[in-house]
Amino acid sequence: MKTKLLLLCFTCMLIRPASAQQISGAVQSFNQNWLFNLGDVGDGQNTGLDDTKWRKLNLPHDWSIEGEFNKDNPAKPDGGALPGGIGWYRKKFALPLADKGKLIFVAFDGVYQKSTVWVNGHYIGFRPNGYISFQYNITPFLNYGTKPNIIAVKVDNASQPNSRWYSGSGIYRNVWLITKNKVAVDHWGTFVTTPIVNAQTARVNLKTSIKNYSGTLQHISIISSIINADGKITATNTLANVAIHDSLTTLSQDFNIAGPVLWSVDRPYLYKVVTKVISAGKTIDIVETPLGIRYFDFDADKGFSLNGKHLKILGVCDHHDLGALGAAFNTRALERKLEILKAMGCNAIRTSHNPPAPELLTLTDKMGFIVMDEAFDCWQKGKEEYDYHLFFDQWHKRDLEDQVLRDRNHPSVIMWSIGNEIPQQSDTSGFRLAKELAAIVRNLDLTRPITAANSSPDTRNQIIKSGAIDLIGYNYHNNDLPKFHDRYPGKKFMGTETTSALETRGIYDMPSDSIRKWPVSKNSTGKMNDDFTVSAYDNVTARWGSTHEEAWKTIKKYDFLSGMFIWTGFDYIGEPTPYSWPARSSYFGIIDLAGFPKDVYYMYQSEWTKTPVLHLLPHWNWQPGKVVDVWAYYNQADEVELFLNGKSLGIKKKIGDDLHVMWRVTFEPGTLKAVSRLNGKVVLTSEVKTAGEPAKIEVKADRSKIKADGVDLSFITVNILDKDGNLVPNADNKVSFKVNGNAFIAGVDNGDPTSHDPFKASYRKAFNGKALVILQSNYSTGNVNLTATADGLQPAIVKIELVK
Ligand code: GAL
Repeated sequence: MKTKLLLLCFTCMLIRPASAQQISGAVQSFNQNWLFNLGDVGDGQNTGLDDTKWRKLNLPHDWSIEGEFNKDNPAKPDGGALPGGIGWYRKKFALPLADKGKLIFVAFDGVYQKSTVWVNGHYIGFRPNGYISFQYNITPFLNYGTKPNIIAVKVDNASQPNSRWYSGSGIYRNVWLITKNKVAVDHWGTFVTTPIVNAQTARVNLKTSIKNYSGTLQHISIISSIINADGKITATNTLANVAIHDSLTTLSQDFNIAGPVLWSVDRPYLYKVVTKVISAGKTIDIVETPLGIRYFDFDADKGFSLNGKHLKILGVCDHHDLGALGAAFNTRALERKLEILKAMGCNAIRTSHNPPAPELLTLTDKMGFIVMDEAFDCWQKGKEEYDYHLFFDQWHKRDLEDQVLRDRNHPSVIMWSIGNEIPQQSDTSGFRLAKELAAIVRNLDLTRPITAANSSPDTRNQIIKSGAIDLIGYNYHNNDLPKFHDRYPGKKFMGTETTSALETRGIYDMPSDSIRKWPVSKNSTGKMNDDFTVSAYDNVTARWGSTHEEAWKTIKKYDFLSGMFIWTGFDYIGEPTPYSWPARSSYFGIIDLAGFPKDVYYMYQSEWTKTPVLHLLPHWNWQPGKVVDVWAYYNQADEVELFLNGKSLGIKKKIGDDLHVMWRVTFEPGTLKAVSRLNGKVVLTSEVKTAGEPAKIEVKADRSKIKADGVDLSFITVNILDKDGNLVPNADNKVSFKVNGNAFIAGVDNGDPTSHDPFKASYRKAFNGKALVILQSNYSTGNVNLTATADGLQPAIVKIELVK
């Protein structure tokens, strides 16, 4: 019986969720069947509390995204104008008698924020940081067999504003229950490095920390094997009969791999290390550690190189929200964002300004993105009344250590950032703290450079002056970048944050070639739009920012500028610059909140990929006689010719560092057509037609087969078309959705930063012709039909298959 149970337990250890990599023990999802109460509860941890009226839900959960937008919510429009407050979660769970004598941990990937945890009424711990992953040993407080356990979690997001962007509220990332033996690898207890890498060979080193809770000296063996992407063992190292004392013992194992396949952004080849702990002939623990073999360098003159080849870091900054899903983490939603960025040619992500969900790093490892893993948006001096500065002194060491321990095995992580625009840049305390934080990181990882994102990158900046950072990170200051070495001779550069251009998808203000600095201030004249829109011609930027073209031209020109992280890849909830209320989400994205690319997406695609691009803008619905600026982004061609209703309007070529071509055209309805050619041969053609009245709905799913696992998603784009199938560029019809089958609507959106309609609804107005509905699976297989209807329009239906 005993062997059977042990076997069972190790079967579940072997079926490890991807995101639970690096965690020792048997890891199970602990997301199901929680009870939730919005609002404070006196003694909510009491085992006897009557929670029968509480709402039943599965995690991850964000209660803010379910609320109503209101400018008076304490988060303010900068925080997304959604409600915060206090919430309680409780979950009943039973443990088999066979688990008695084992260690039981509960691990939270992230709770926003100020979480307190109790088990069976016993206080377990408090963690203020809303983005950090943490775990508790709950063994001493547990019941086994028929007597159930109750875990209670209080989440306190009442003191606001505590964030400059939308944070979400609740247990918004995954939770795991971990069962392990009394001798086991410590949590995040492995560290894999590659001290030697070249084309012929790779030396891999693995450090494994083993914890012995048994109270007596133990002898174990550990066998670690490197498994390649085909599942074959390529190297093994065994340490036999090692004494493990009553504490933490760190063991080191070396491996040689002949002809290693290197990890890169184009070919993200992954190995993994599987470590087995063996005692008396039995496997008592297994841990998997991700491994990518690569080497890189930042050079003061030549910039960044990966595996010996020069590579420009083409990155975006992103906050953690997932649009209409809010902060509630969902792997597919994040994977979709990364897919959209990858298709644009983006090769890097900055986790602004906090540790990401652990799954982000699993995805960036797998999909080939470089990551700048950032820790803090402030240190002791805050930016908001109730932000992390209140907890910094007590928690920064623990939080930063936990971040590095959790993330240091991911090949995609290439640099650490100890902070964004830290107010103490200008203060000598910044000098001391920069050194302290960098030392915390270096104590745990010497393989990656440390940077900080500086808003005042002059030589008085105390963080830079401290000498603690390896890469001098500049936020903005686009015009100063070429002169970087005048200021910092011999130093290495990173464009930690650039651009901050502003756009609303589908809005075009002329003249397209005059640049507006918004919000308007004493130094920038002009008038913003009454309808809270911003032109998508790449002709509006924040005061401190630059257009996409300006920033990219600078970074592109100089090799020593290692790369850039554009603010931002996607729009995010909160920080509704250049407006405030009624706007409630940002305009900075290259892609809107619903995931629809704005035009400038194609500028990057034309520059950053080998995909042939010919993108024509704007739409072709204007008042007759209006002079319209027509732009084309293109690549792999030496000219573009434009035709209006069959008549040529001339050939244009990009000259010098041009990134687009433009024609000034007097509008007449009909067809605008562009033809790109290389050496006279047609490469691509692109057309835009004057659309008539809205006549029908089109629905298109990004995936028509999804898993019936209760979390998989299909993102369904809704287009409003005229009778001939042209997108109606200003259509705002209200579309209603009906689901038939085993799935539900997880969210709706349209990318309009001013909409106050709920994200959790079965309807959405189109915004500039488009809307989005996100369908989430339940647990049974079969077909689901989503029907979209709107007054006066021909409805549409899309079939999604739910599979095992
Ligand atoms: C930066 C800041 C970002 C965001 C951005 C907007 O200064 O680091 O978090 O606020 O400005 O342009």
